Amino acid sequence: MSERAIAVLTSGGDAPGMNAALRAVTRAGIAEGFRVIGIRRGYNGLLNKDVFDLKLRSVSNIINRGGTVLYTARSEEFNTPAGVKKAADSCRELGICGIVVIGGDGSFRGARDLSGQGIPCVGIPGTIDNDIACSDYTVGFDTAMNTAMEMIDKIRDTAQSHDRCSVVEVMGRRCGDIALQTGIATGATAILVPEVPYDFEKDVLGRIRAAQSVGKSHFVIVVAEGVGGIDKLAHDIEECTGIESRATVLGHVQRGGSPTIRDRVVASEMGSKAVDLLKQGIGNRVLAVQNGKIVDLDITEALSLERKFDYELYKTALKISI
Ligand code: F6P
Repeated sequence: MSERAIAVLTSGGDAPGMNAALRAVTRAGIAEGFRVIGIRRGYNGLLNKDVFDLKLRSVSNIINRGGTVLYTARSEEFNTPAGVKKAADSCRELGICGIVVIGGDGSFRGARDLSGQGIPCVGIPGTIDNDIACSDYTVGFDTAMNTAMEMIDKIRDTAQSHDRCSVVEVMGRRCGDIALQTGIATGATAILVPEVPYDFEKDVLGRIRAAQSVGKSHFVIVVAEGVGGIDKLAHDIEECTGIESRATVLGHVQRGGSPTIRDRVVASEMGSKAVDLLKQGIGNRVLAVQNGKIVDLDITEALSLERKFDYELYKTALKISI
């Protein structure tokens, strides 16, 4: 009897912990008697049949590495009905009876469409943005935040030495979670996120002046990518307050680096759980962290949910950052 095969791919922006997830899929898959196939460069690899066998030792020494050894891509061809059909045909030709898709929302839409074509897919939320509505947590978020925190701590050293204001942009696409949490962790005087509209006079200048009035002489303003405009912000702060200001975009440094223990463990648990579902022939599911537990949900339902921002935590940040 020929072995049944499951496959794994990483898609969209890479995130630290993706390797830990695909390692867990490989090891759990082999333990369950599957042949495990790695698909290179996301859905493109499925369309081009760019695949290879993953053995127990193929995934050695990767749990500690950022990025993804499977490479990743955003595929335009796959985003068409013809592309999805071609990908499903590839799966049948390759003997793939289920796929674990590690990525974000866009990747899950692909997993849903492929499940609709009879190829069971299970999604694992892998993105630094923490912007998957159904899950309290996405693999990569913790590492990215820790990287951002470390970078902002360094920026703060120099801001303090020069009595300056540093305006720092962090990633997150349309989600303000990285900004909110790193802003709290670095004592930012103001945190600007796309979920909360801001008024420059009150929410930036007002907060700088209030902090100044109680003896603060250097300031860090953390701005989410979804708000942007930090060069102008730094310029306007300097013009209005006379405080020398600098702008820094942290950028892709936040996407790399060795994953934290949280990312490694959540990724490992999810990888193993994804295999459990595929073993039962269950597809069109996405894994999520809810109230500290790993659960699985219907992908269509998961994609229809609206992301909730933590306004309580935001209010706390405003209260204590002075
Ligand atoms: O989704 C992860 C992310 O890093 C976002 O925070 C950011 O908006 C985007 O990807 C950047 O994409 P790219 O690497 O294609 O520039």
